[in-house]
Amino acid sequence: MGNAPPAALEEVVIRRAAPDDIDGIISVNIECLPEHYPIRFWLEHIERYGDAFYVAEVGSRIIAYVMPRVEFGFAKLGTGMRRLGHIVSIAVRRAFRRRGIATVLMTASMESLKNEYGVQEVYLEVRVSNEPAINLYKKLGFTIVERIRNYYLDGEDAYVMAKEL
Ligand SMILES: CC(C)(COP(=O)(O)OP(=O)(O)OC[C@H]1O[C@@H](n2cnc3c(N)ncnc32)[C@H](O)[C@@H]1OP(=O)(O)O)[C@@H](O)C(=O)NCCC(=O)NCCS
Repeated sequence: MGNAPPAALEEVVIRRAAPDDIDGIISVNIECLPEHYPIRFWLEHIERYGDAFYVAEVGSRIIAYVMPRVEFGFAKLGTGMRRLGHIVSIAVRRAFRRRGIATVLMTASMESLKNEYGVQEVYLEVRVSNEPAINLYKKLGFTIVERIRNYYLDGEDAYVMAKEL
């Protein structure tokens, strides 16, 4: 109920993350998710997989991010060992949700994972109760490939969802 202008009127810029964004990214993470990480972990991902780590910004404020990593491991969808993109964390501040920002971030990150890092398949874990996120991933072409019991610290199960790039 403040006097801030409606978020819809503000311009959202999507760009690659830089180390200076770290405070803004962590602040979005704290607002949006119960899973947090040490600063070193965030910085390491910007340093190593920064071409696929994107943020959304309004003015100079970070309002969303997607943090991926690249792994070499067993395919979730194909066969044998593959270069896998792993979406470690994604979040959009509440006031900016449901206007396609996560879709744009995920699409940009997957493009970069494929083109810059040679990734063939992308996967992620999501709480089985997280309907908004599950819908988002399904809309982007992900399918549920596995359910992991007690994956989260509070005991909730995770779906593993994957998509061929
Ligand atoms: C999940 C999250 C990232 C989606 O961000 P967003 O920018 O609002 O998503 P988009 O606007 O791109 O939505 C794309 C699609 O996802 C689905 N979706 C998004 N929010 C939804 C909701 N609240 N309820 C149902 N479906 C939803 C819809 O299919 C939507 O398409 P539509 O708007 O045309 O119907 C955001 O809700 C969030 O930050 N949640 C908290 C953090 C989190 O759960 N992260 C994922 C951890 S695995």
